[in-house]
Amino acid sequence: MTELIHDVDLADPQTFHSDLTDFWKRLREHNPVAWHPPRGDNPGFWAVSRHADIMAVYRDNVNFTSERGNLLVTLLAGGDSAAGQMLAVTDGHRHRELRKIMLTAFSPRALERIAERVRENTRRLVAEAVERGTCDFAEDIASHIPMGTIADLLGVPASDREFLLSLTKSALSSDAEDAGEVDALMARNEILLYFGELVEQRRASPGDDVISVLAGGEIDGKSLTEDEMVLNCYSLIIGGDETSRLSMIDAVRTLADHPAQWQLLRDGDVGLGTAAEEILRWATPAMHFGRTCLTDTEVGGVPIAAGDIVTLWHSSGNRDASVFDDPYAFTLGRTPNKHITFGYGPHFCLGAYLGRVEVSELLSALRTFSRGFEVAGPARRIHSNFLTGFSSLPVRFEPDPAGLAQYHETRGASV
Ligand code: HEM
Repeated sequence: MTELIHDVDLADPQTFHSDLTDFWKRLREHNPVAWHPPRGDNPGFWAVSRHADIMAVYRDNVNFTSERGNLLVTLLAGGDSAAGQMLAVTDGHRHRELRKIMLTAFSPRALERIAERVRENTRRLVAEAVERGTCDFAEDIASHIPMGTIADLLGVPASDREFLLSLTKSALSSDAEDAGEVDALMARNEILLYFGELVEQRRASPGDDVISVLAGGEIDGKSLTEDEMVLNCYSLIIGGDETSRLSMIDAVRTLADHPAQWQLLRDGDVGLGTAAEEILRWATPAMHFGRTCLTDTEVGGVPIAAGDIVTLWHSSGNRDASVFDDPYAFTLGRTPNKHITFGYGPHFCLGAYLGRVEVSELLSALRTFSRGFEVAGPARRIHSNFLTGFSSLPVRFEPDPAGLAQYHETRGASV
């Protein structure tokens, strides 16, 4: 069954414009730890497709490292320039210490404050869009929510947010096949410079935001370097913006496509938290992450040699029938729901709580302000071998006048 993987190039973004359902099904069944042969300039790598094997690699940070990159694109290029500095591509003692420092900015009190802002922001954006009747959900709603959340975490002043949003759009967008590399690079540099300035400011007058926490943090008695601080600020944007955005866009598209599930949500027959988990399983915005093998070992009984690249395919693991009953059914009430959308083990997503809040607040706003909605035009798919989803989604809403009236009353009362 090795021929299965000979027909599919997992490094080519174009591959993900086709439906891979059958490919992943057959791979899980016949070749769950598959050798993806070298193609062109790219070296070969392993593709792991079963849920249990993916979890086993994630858990094992002795035999596997993230320090040579954690995405196909960097792994194939031979490494990540932020290795040993940025949380996601740092391992061992330094990773544990850096994670501890960053987690202090994710205290329950700080998260509660940020979650409240997510709620207000989401309700306002959704209510306004529903009242207008139509919108591009991606542009008018989803693009504002995660960046607002990250800006809150970082303590970015309100006056700089639009500027930062426009830079991140050019720096990271996988919207178009011909997205300009030079513009992206320039935007990335500008973001790093901007964070450098914020670090200086917070050093002088600290707050309780991530930048201040990084500026005051020490590992083994030594302060973090400015590069480390700036890279880890940036890593929140890389980790938390597009992933959350794509999940929200997929939520709307999938609910429009599954009216019976939408009705359950609207009638309150399924809890928001439970529904959000199924949205996240279904969307699986980050299709894969990866590791490099450090010592000869095995995965699912297959020998893996030191130096081999191993990619872990969430988009397959989240449809594994040995873990999920009827995995190809979108079932908002699904429990348990052990999806691996946020990864697993020592690098488990730092922003999982916020990602969940963003999705459940969206569901809450949709069911309060709208009786239903439909996709009103062609959706545009992003072009990537890492992320999946849509960068444009025209939507037409049917308003719920009672929900909207109540919203305006409470807003009026609180002004
Ligand atoms: C790590 C997915 C939202 C920040 C990860 C990992 C996954 C993931 C799979 C593990 C990577 C690995 O093991 O190599 C997602 C998804 C999200 C989301 C699907 C939204 C639905 C966020 C948000 C933030 C964030 C909102 C920040 C505000 C991070 C960081 C890491 C990480 C800093 C590195 C953690 C570490 O290496 O210890 N994310 N993420 N993510 N995520 Fe998220």
